[in-house]
Amino acid sequence: MDNQPEWTFIGKTDELKTELEATGFLKELEFNERKIVLSLSDGQFGALNNKCNHMGGPLSQGKLKNGCIECPWHYWGFHHQTGEAAPGSFEPLASHGGNVPSLPLKIEAGALYINLNGESQRTRPEYNAGSGLGREPNRAPGRIRVLGLSTTAMD
Ligand code: FES
Repeated sequence: MDNQPEWTFIGKTDELKTELEATGFLKELEFNERKIVLSLSDGQFGALNNKCNHMGGPLSQGKLKNGCIECPWHYWGFHHQTGEAAPGSFEPLASHGGNVPSLPLKIEAGALYINLNGESQRTRPEYNAGSGLGREPNRAPGRIRVLGLSTTAMD
């Protein structure tokens, strides 16, 4: 990423707004195989890394709700500009979901630019700490034991 110019042109703001309004306010952008989700909420653009903090779901295929992008896989929500996990998400664990990296945007002369060098750090969820959800399997001789798993609906 050192070879990236500081600001990369995305498009004209009026054209991007029209496009985003017609496509659910989310659009996937790709720069050298790097995927970004561009969003529009209350007239404000946002740009996040496209990978959800939970299991890597594609945020650009989610839904924009109350300024947050809801992941299509298990409904974790992240603020569309800051990437912060949305408190009060449908999924209770999501409010401890850390931060999806965000990228700086700027508008100049009616055009939107992104700074691909300015991606913030990803902060991983902390829900494993002390909950036992992340413990390693303990294999031991003896009778067969069954592990129960549950899943959630996915879009
Ligand atoms: S991968 Fe996004 S909520 Fe699970």
